[in-house]
Amino acid sequence: MIPEIMKAVVLSKPTLAENVRLTEVPVPQVRPGWVLVKVKAFGLNHSEQILRLNEIRADYIRKPLIPGIECVGEIADPSDSHFQKSQKIVALMGGMGRSFDGSYAEYALLPVSHVFSVESDLSWTDMAAVPETYFTAWGSLFECLDLKKEDTLLVRGGTCALGYAAIQIAKALGCQVAATTHKEKKLSLLEKADKAVLDTGTLAGTFFGITKALELVGPKTLRDTLRCVEKGGIVCNTGILGGVYTLNGFDPIKDIPNGVYLTGFFSSYPAQQTMTDIFSFINCHHIKPEIGAVYPLERISEALFDMDNHKVDGKIVVKV
Ligand SMILES: NC(=O)c1ccc[n+]([C@@H]2O[C@H](COP(=O)([O-])OP(=O)(O)OC[C@H]3O[C@@H](n4cnc5c(N)ncnc54)[C@H](OP(=O)(O)O)[C@@H]3O)[C@@H](O)[C@H]2O)c1
Repeated sequence: MIPEIMKAVVLSKPTLAENVRLTEVPVPQVRPGWVLVKVKAFGLNHSEQILRLNEIRADYIRKPLIPGIECVGEIADPSDSHFQKSQKIVALMGGMGRSFDGSYAEYALLPVSHVFSVESDLSWTDMAAVPETYFTAWGSLFECLDLKKEDTLLVRGGTCALGYAAIQIAKALGCQVAATTHKEKKLSLLEKADKAVLDTGTLAGTFFGITKALELVGPKTLRDTLRCVEKGGIVCNTGILGGVYTLNGFDPIKDIPNGVYLTGFFSSYPAQQTMTDIFSFINCHHIKPEIGAVYPLERISEALFDMDNHKVDGKIVVKV
């Protein structure tokens, strides 16, 4: 039985984590092209922090809004879709938790185009670490960097959920991996990489043989990262951890070394085949998704506070 009322986080304005509360709202009604999902768990994301603290002011963000750009769960009502009731799914992006209500709730009404079936024996919490983080790592590494086992990969800004996932995937593939952190005490968290390096802001000239680089610090260090790869190498800018979002005065002639390629990944376009490939890779390589901490939905305020205050290393998962 689908209840009439559910618990959810509803935001209308910039909100500190300690002020986030669960409220009771009506369970959304299904409509054609959308399915009702019973949310079992969801991961927290850096982009949701940006939205909650500031971006929610923007006209393009729906208000009031249930945030949350991803979740895992079961189909509660398939509406007119190809899904079956109780089918196991993951959902992400496409405006979720931005232009329509997202996953910080017991149920979510989601467009069929961004809901994907999965076959996996992972627990709900392990599975919840996958959709956005592993999809972004996967797309950056394979679609953008064309990663092969012969490559030596640099992950700049390795101590984030995405960094840990990228290192895990690249190591499972057989690559050599170097990863950086901007905090000396976090070097030990990069033990799964072959080499952990303290990022002082300038790394050009300190590496040899890097063929691919995943830039997670972002525009703040991108010019330098472009000088860390060898000729023929590729740099993919995926992250914005450095808090700099665009590159003003970027001079492609001087800033991109001869024969180095620059690309970027945006996780807005997930597809069923990619999700199937990711879960199959996880299964084949016995990958246990990297999780920093798990909180029940009732403690979402604490989970968000811990994220804002960098208290957790790795993916934060909220269990519903
Ligand atoms: N392009 C896309 O479509 C896409 C999709 C998903 C995520 N992203 C981006 O990828 C990045 C990682 O996302 P996530 O969800 O994995 O993040 P996350 O797990 O929430 O990571 C945040 C943590 O990164 C750490 N960090 C590491 N290096 C940093 C640096 N140089 N400056 C500041 N903090 C640093 C911080 O901890 P410490 O300071 O303690 O190290 C912070 O706690 C974010 O910028 C996110 O916006 C992009």
